[in-house]
Amino acid sequence: MEKPKLTQFSHGSGCGCKIAPADLEAILNGVSKSDRVYPNLLVGNGRNDDAAVLEIDNGQCIISTTDFFTPIVDDATAFGKIAAANAISDVYAMGGTPVMAVGILGWPIELLGAEIAAEVISGAQSICADAGIPLAGGHSIDSREPFFGLSVTGLVEKSNLKTNNTAQVGDLIYLTKPIGTGILSTAMKRGISKPEQDELLINELCKLNTIGRELSKIDGVNALTDVTGFGLLGHLVEVCQASKVQAKLQWDMVPTYPMEILKTFLDQFVMPDNTMRNFKAYSKYASELSAAQLQLLCDPQTNGGLLFTVSETAKKDVETTLKQAGKEIHLIGRIELIQEGAPTVLVN
Ligand code: CO
Ligand code: CO
Repeated sequence: MEKPKLTQFSHGSGCGCKIAPADLEAILNGVSKSDRVYPNLLVGNGRNDDAAVLEIDNGQCIISTTDFFTPIVDDATAFGKIAAANAISDVYAMGGTPVMAVGILGWPIELLGAEIAAEVISGAQSICADAGIPLAGGHSIDSREPFFGLSVTGLVEKSNLKTNNTAQVGDLIYLTKPIGTGILSTAMKRGISKPEQDELLINELCKLNTIGRELSKIDGVNALTDVTGFGLLGHLVEVCQASKVQAKLQWDMVPTYPMEILKTFLDQFVMPDNTMRNFKAYSKYASELSAAQLQLLCDPQTNGGLLFTVSETAKKDVETTLKQAGKEIHLIGRIELIQEGAPTVLVN
């Protein structure tokens, strides 16, 4: 029997199925603000950061995060791997070290069967092993649409904790992975991509953002986050707004998947629906975008790269750390002082 195509069971894929920023805001606005203060909660609900952080003991902090989504690829093992790497990323994006994960599974058991679900979990297990953590349990429900993800616990020293609201004027902006995964995964879902393109994409999507742990130890790495469903533009706007700064983005320095591949898909109008949703949410904070800039800067990423800002004094340390980890260096812009009437993100 031919294996069922997992993406045919999902309406959106990967981080592209995130609830729209405006809808999420409406949900949270409807939640009464508790007047109880938790002094040990260093990062909580009030901030659009990657994970919650609680100080437990004199500078030792717990990081807690969860991420799950509907299938972004047809292969069950690859789906499990990507979902796991994506969920663990939020711990690295806080500068932390993951220590444990539990799984969250929704599965149309009658339609897809137990065997394929087991493949999803095995994929996740192998990525957890790469990250050095156990997949220690979890919860599953029978659901019409399949989804999978993890809740991940991590640890971080308070002094190494990195958030998205601490970018400083003059900082350099770096990104560790190419953008365009939304376009490529949409092409794969529609069955119009080549097997070697799919392989390149899946390989990249499974990569762990462990470099965040190394970066967190460098003084002068000021703000750190990962790029996911809101696209590079959305996540950069969040960093700027939280830090009360603005950014100049150097478009030709932004790493992308090979443009000749992306272009063949874009010419056929192949892109995720959520690209336009991100554009609606964030373009008002950006300078005017060309078609290509819109399509890529608003492209929702799954397990995207780390986006971080660095003071000039730490440039050398950061670039040495990236090189030693075998990463290419992508310096994509600079943080600037807010100027009245100027866009939050100026794309050059
Ligand atoms: Co994140
Ligand atoms: Co997340």
